[in-house]
Amino acid sequence: CGICGVVGNRPAAPLIFEALRRLEYRGYDSAGIATLVDGRADRRRAAGKLDHLEAVLEERPLSGTTGIGHTRWATHGSPNEINAHPHAVGRVAVVHNGIIENYEELRDELTATGRIFTTETDTEAVAQLLDYHLDRGLEPREAAFAVLQRLQGAYALAMIFADHEGLIIGARHGAPLAVGFGEGEMFLGSDSLALAPLARRIAYLEDGDWCVLRRDGATFFDVRGETVERPVQTVALMAGAVGKDGYRHYMEKELHEHPVVIGQTLQRMIDPVTRQVVLPTLSFDLATLPRAVITACGSAFYAGLIGRYWLEAEARLPVDIDVASELRYRNPPLTEGGLGLLISQSGETADTLAALRGLRSAGQHVVSVLNVEASTMGRESDAVLGMVAGPEISVASTKAFTAQLAVLASLTIAIAQARGVLSPARQQHLTASLLDLPSRAAEVFVQGDAIRAMAAIIAEARDVLYLGRGICFPVALEGALKLKEISYIHAEAYAAGEMKHGPISLIDRTVPIVVIAPSNILFDKTLSNLQEARARGGRILVFTDAQGAARLKDLAEAIVVLPTVDAFVAPILYTIPVQILAYEVALLKGTDVDQPRNLAKSVTVE
Ligand code: G6P
Repeated sequence: CGICGVVGNRPAAPLIFEALRRLEYRGYDSAGIATLVDGRADRRRAAGKLDHLEAVLEERPLSGTTGIGHTRWATHGSPNEINAHPHAVGRVAVVHNGIIENYEELRDELTATGRIFTTETDTEAVAQLLDYHLDRGLEPREAAFAVLQRLQGAYALAMIFADHEGLIIGARHGAPLAVGFGEGEMFLGSDSLALAPLARRIAYLEDGDWCVLRRDGATFFDVRGETVERPVQTVALMAGAVGKDGYRHYMEKELHEHPVVIGQTLQRMIDPVTRQVVLPTLSFDLATLPRAVITACGSAFYAGLIGRYWLEAEARLPVDIDVASELRYRNPPLTEGGLGLLISQSGETADTLAALRGLRSAGQHVVSVLNVEASTMGRESDAVLGMVAGPEISVASTKAFTAQLAVLASLTIAIAQARGVLSPARQQHLTASLLDLPSRAAEVFVQGDAIRAMAAIIAEARDVLYLGRGICFPVALEGALKLKEISYIHAEAYAAGEMKHGPISLIDRTVPIVVIAPSNILFDKTLSNLQEARARGGRILVFTDAQGAARLKDLAEAIVVLPTVDAFVAPILYTIPVQILAYEVALLKGTDVDQPRNLAKSVTVE
């Protein structure tokens, strides 16, 4: 979810609404705004995307100069209007990002005092408890402090109070919150992106902090209620609204940005003259790293899987990898001084952030591969390796994925060199294959017709199997994930060699098999696996190069022929057509490509 607040001297609702547009990547199940009008909280809410709220606001505008807003990714309670934030009870209205874990206990206690709950949300317990304390005669600040001491879980909160124009109280515990400083107006937002056009001076709350905002400034408190100072930073002006540049969807535009984004990211990582990888100054020595742990969620996790193949094969570095939601509770034994490598487009994903903190407390050097460097993960890392992907608006990640891979490939070369396991010739070879990649990536787009022919077969299917071997197995995983996310067709990815141990029983004419098979050292093995599938009537659709195509022409029903590239960079190149395939299938299915149902771009709850 995304939250924001404004205490100002002009109508707050339009400012809040625009901030919500910038926060929509955090969820779009419902949205709402509450402002203080004649001393009372008035609110407008709507289920579904922000456009629905916009229509409501057009019909019934909201005045008032103090207000809060929310765009929701549902956790407790279905995404209808009743469960939409802000939650208003008595004299308070509250917006919340996160999960209040002890809300049932709070609800039971408050119900016993005669209070009646009207929603299924955990957030209502906060609003009820706040109003309960106001009823007892506490002032807003005292009431907020009393409430915060009772909450368990992860949250960022913003609260407004009847008869207290010009006051917002915000709180942060496990979910990010930033304060923006304006001229005679103050702002609150889940991230600096939300605040960017409103305020260039920003202070971040630390975990456990809460703050009191008035028109003329902010007071910060720590978890014990003591006043604290938080540094105010000036953030760079960000580009305004990002357009689709004539493409039908952001996803289509972002797919076309792959070559440029790979190129820009490599330009940042590799010195064009010396062709050496250039990393930011690190507080530790790459040469003596005992091992690495990689963690991430979603597509970023699959980028990490590819990173593992590289780091093991080229840098001879032992690597452990897991999804962040598992790693954070696994408590693996870790050698102090290892590398904790986090990968995240947004830098805000709650599970990845929690894993980051776990790795730090286990004595790992924390390095994050991020697109949004001014994010919570960026601030909490020992070093940030920035991808240069630009804003990614489509919920399903595309260009950020190949940018992550460009960073990880470069990092692999740097670690391999530091460890003395990479010959100069091999280093030059790997670097050259990377630098060649933007041009090869641009060539992928001439294969549009072949990809669409494949998409037509897949669009008819209910289930699809994706296969790959070795470093191309994670590409299969990414392909299956992308198809699921945006076309709602069930897809499963398997390591091709593992197919005979299970999914082979699913194979018949109705289950197309998408194969990622560049002609590398595992090509013959993959070919044998495909023979096994073909013998059982499977329909085989292949991504390969010219040499592979020649060998597969009798076996495959559809082939997309890709430029021949070095095996090191093949996973980066092959990701592009595999993502385009998902996009083309989604077009045929007529789904909401950029904002698929139930998903959010950045999941800031556990
Ligand atoms: C969500 C998105 C995915 C993304 C994942 C991780 O699930 O839908 O596309 O890969 O979060 O996001 P991050 O910002 O951490 O890369």
